[in-house]
Parts: sequence; C-alpha cells; structure tokens
Amino acid sequence: MQEILCCDELSTKKYARNLAQILKKGDVIVLSGELGAGKTKFVEGILAYFGMQEKISSPTFTIVNEYHNEQIDIYHFDLYRLGDIYEFENIGGEEYFNKGICLFEWGELIEDILPNDYIKITFEKGEKEEERKLQIETFGTKYENIDFSNYKE
Ligand SMILES: Nc1ncnc2c1ncn2[C@@H]1O[C@H](COP(=O)(O)OP(=O)(O)O)[C@@H](O)[C@H]1O
Ligand SMILES: [Mg+2]
Repeated sequence: MQEILCCDELSTKKYARNLAQILKKGDVIVLSGELGAGKTKFVEGILAYFGMQEKISSPTFTIVNEYHNEQIDIYHFDLYRLGDIYEFENIGGEEYFNKGICLFEWGELIEDILPNDYIKITFEKGEKEEERKLQIETFGTKYENIDFSNYKE
C-alpha cells in the first residue's frame, strides 16, 4: 500500500496525468471512495495525458463512456448505479478488460470478477477541504514493483 497526498484538484489531475504514462491496453484501475472524493477528476487527468476530452460531463445513464484515438482506447465505467455483479456480466462487462485501459469508479462492486492484475486507488478526503489521500494497492504481480510516488511532482 502506497499513499499519495494531493493538495487540490489540479494536483490530483496532474498525478493521474503522470501515472497515465505507464498505462497500456489491458490495464485495469479500480477507483474507490465516496461521492466527491475525486475519482472522476482522476479519470480526467488520465484522459488529458492521452490528449482526450478533459472534462467529463455530469452523470449519464450509461455505465461506460468510451474514448478512442489512434493510440489507445479508454473505457471509463461508473458503477455507482449498478444493481449487482450479474448486471455487469449481462452487458458483457468482462469483455472490456483486454480491449483498452479500463477505469472503474466504484469498481469494488465487481472485485470478484476482475482480472488477477489490477491497481486499486482509494480516495479519502484529507484534513483540509481540498486535500485527498490516494491509497494505492496492487493486485497480482504485474504492478508490484511500481513506485507510485515517482509520478508525484
Ligand atoms: N484534491 C482534490 N482532488 C480531486 N477533486 C477535488 C480535490 N479537492 C477538491 N476537489 C473537488 O471535489 C470534487 C470531486 O469530484 P469528482 O471527481 O466528480 O468525485 P467522484 O467522481 O469521486 O464522485 C470536485 O468538485 C473537485 O473540484
Ligand atoms: Mg465520479
């Protein structure tokens, strides 16, 4: 478990943008934490690195938003409204794991069927209004040697 402290929204987005340089097709990140914790801002930082849309529109009724360019395909899931894991399976959710980079807000809801290797980032509000603590855990072996503090400026 590694902890990264982001003092404001910009710092969270910059951290995500820096970390995005290691991401490739087949990578899976679970983003966990209460509403307003910063999960979507983190996704915006990743999209920014790949030169994609930098503002994600407010809640949609779709479970997945897709972003594509010549370099990469990104699948951004928000599972907040997911009823249960079967609903995810029924939309063919597991087929996305290898298709590009998968980012799952509320991904803990599907932990039982995630691939062996994934990164889990838990966002917690800090002592100050704009502070967020990112607790980073890795599952499987693929990410075990990454020093996540390298991507903090
Ligand atoms: N350090 C920070 N990192 C990310 N967002 C922050 C931070 N400090 C304040 N905020 C604010 O908190 C909110 C986070 O919203 P959002 O990313 O949509 O959360 P979530 O997707 O976890 O529900 C935004 O209004 C953002 O401006
Ligand atoms: Mg969100």
